[in-house]
Amino acid sequence: MSRTALVTGGTRGIGLAISKGLKAAGYKVAANYGGNDEAAKACEQETGVKCYKFDVSDFDAVGAGLAQIENDLGPIDVVVNNAGITWDGPFHKMSAEQWRKVIAVDLDSAFNVTRQVWEGMRERGFGRVINISSINGQKGQFGQVNYSAAKAGLIGFTKALAQEGAKKGITVNVVCPGYIDTDMVRAVPEKVLESIIATVPVGRLGKAEEIASMCTYLASEDAAFITGATMTVNGAQYIAG
Ligand code: CAA
Repeated sequence: MSRTALVTGGTRGIGLAISKGLKAAGYKVAANYGGNDEAAKACEQETGVKCYKFDVSDFDAVGAGLAQIENDLGPIDVVVNNAGITWDGPFHKMSAEQWRKVIAVDLDSAFNVTRQVWEGMRERGFGRVINISSINGQKGQFGQVNYSAAKAGLIGFTKALAQEGAKKGITVNVVCPGYIDTDMVRAVPEKVLESIIATVPVGRLGKAEEIASMCTYLASEDAAFITGATMTVNGAQYIAG
């Protein structure tokens, strides 16, 4: 049976690698995106994955997007809440907009999407929810009070929801990537990024595919007993207890 998977922010960076990984594993994949039509077109051409444009921070827009996907591909059994943005700056310069926007896109989105597929997963007795957090949600990062709060929020979200899904065959896990070679990380000032890479024992940035393979595993039937888990993938930059 071919299950349907949704990857939010699934047309670029880590999300694109996850979309490709799930497609290669035999899923029907829908890749959501927020604004970059060019990247979505390239994703569709390169991978054959169908792309859907809607704003994950808007509950009603998510509802309409999910209805379209389920109409095209069938019930969504796997959700990867990957969409996220950064808007870095020290706290003493952080605006209310800078706070709200990052919380809305990076944290509210997980509620907006998961809440609206949850009842279907419960009825069918199967589901996989995979939340993409960050090393910076685990350890905090100078200049990222908004992002670290949102990403830490995803860890609590996961731990609570896993307990609710357990008896219904739904697993809920969170993946915490370290610094991965994507546009988001490349946007960090070069000198700052160099100093960050110097703290990674493995000595390099991670690859998007190294996050994708973890997600494909968590989505699989084999991972049925893994739920509520925080999966750290960061080259030993931060070793969480
Ligand atoms: N620790 C301690 N102090 C620091 C610091 C750090 N990491 N970074 C900067 N500072 C200090 C500076 O030395 C400076 O001190 P002085 O005023 O005494 O000279 C002060 O903070 C202010 O620095 P700036 O004037 O450079 O401040 P800014 O307004 O330009 O903002 C910043 C700086 C945006 C925080 C910049 O340092 C930065 O981009 N840091 C990287 C943040 C980061 O790691 N983002 C990750 C993005 S990738 C991602 O998020 C993906 C993921 O999940 C891993």
